[in-house]
Amino acid sequence: MSTLVLEPAKKGLTGRLKVPGDKSISHRAVIFSSLAKGVSHITNFLTGEDCLRTVEAFRQMGVEITKEKDCLTVHGNGIDALKEPAVPINFGNSGTTARLMSGVLAGLPLFTTAFGDQSLSRRPMDRVVQPLSEMGALIRGREQASYLPLAFEGKKLRGRIHQLQVKSAQVKSALLLAGLLAEGETTVVEQGRTRNHTEMLLPLFGAEVQTKGASITVKGGQQLQGADFQVPGDISSAAFFLVGAAITPNSDLNIVNVGLNPTRNGVVQALEKMGAAIETTITSYVGEEPVGDMRISHSSLKAITLEGDLIANLIDEIPILALAATQAEGTTIIKDAKELRVKETDRIEAVAHNLTQLGANVETREDGLAIHGPTPLHGGELHSYGDHRIGMMGAIASLITTSKVSIADKECINISYPNFFEDLHGLL
Ligand code: S3P
Repeated sequence: MSTLVLEPAKKGLTGRLKVPGDKSISHRAVIFSSLAKGVSHITNFLTGEDCLRTVEAFRQMGVEITKEKDCLTVHGNGIDALKEPAVPINFGNSGTTARLMSGVLAGLPLFTTAFGDQSLSRRPMDRVVQPLSEMGALIRGREQASYLPLAFEGKKLRGRIHQLQVKSAQVKSALLLAGLLAEGETTVVEQGRTRNHTEMLLPLFGAEVQTKGASITVKGGQQLQGADFQVPGDISSAAFFLVGAAITPNSDLNIVNVGLNPTRNGVVQALEKMGAAIETTITSYVGEEPVGDMRISHSSLKAITLEGDLIANLIDEIPILALAATQAEGTTIIKDAKELRVKETDRIEAVAHNLTQLGANVETREDGLAIHGPTPLHGGELHSYGDHRIGMMGAIASLITTSKVSIADKECINISYPNFFEDLHGLL
């Protein structure tokens, strides 16, 4: 665990940036292509630690997956060819691997055990275990299988209608994956729109998915086919640089090839509402997902309220938006965001603690934050708490502090953005 010391920036962020592939889409690409029959080529795959956990899980089940730089070749032999792993699967720090793979492991005729790191072992798994059990899944673990480690005694599942109790794309996706392996039809009814990559990308692999308003239905027993596609850049990674440019004087930045799926682009809406000078242009599509370029420059920002259905569409961007709020005129309120308490760390406490260390005026609430701005930020000692997005927020804050910022445990940034510091320095 090492500490990084960052000097304040002497100039703004300028130039052109291509952020790494989308984390959510990279996970799904590995899962769908590993369940499929045939060869899939996935380019611009995110080689961060989280997505590599999903790759390793399928390698352990006998899928041949080769990686050359950011290109993945997956030799899928179909669901029936998947083998029982000889040793427990390590989900590492990855909530997406843990939740989505639970849907898969529950429905395969295999016995599997899986564990995660300390942070992941504290995160709730009952949100997937409980609805999977209603489909007939047999999953064992401590506190009624509420936490990892878990043991899956794979079963033929029964399709059913699920009313989602949490606004979570991970839970929705786990149930749709289980539905593909189950008998009959499975429908998931959302109580608010969450990222829809699973529904959008499954058809690329030949699956039929029906979406009607808030309900998504899959038929069990569909055989996926291998496919080739390019993962768009991750808007959640781009968000750090969007905010960096918005708050740092003399910035003018182009970010290219970013996924602009409307269920993910809440950060753009939020920054626009705050008064940021931001332009987006759609340049292509991956399946039905829009991909495009963004230009952003330094702007004076004003406080806003983030709440309701928008929260799910920017949930991962709240730490960096909180930093933007420290530079905005007025009080920014973030509410309906209790989910932040069960992310890689309690992000409400971690954001408040780190920003306060730098001189910001931040109050925590049970379901969010109140940030009174604008406040100049000074240097200080921060901790990532092992959370990649908290670490990157600290690094971006250092662009505008009056003296040095140190960040303890910076390695966690590799989870979603292995070249983060190279990219940051390239723009300064
Ligand atoms: C993700 C969904 C979100 C998000 C996570 C990735 C996904 O989690 O925070 O980083 O890929 O489905 P929840 O669905 O639990 O909110």
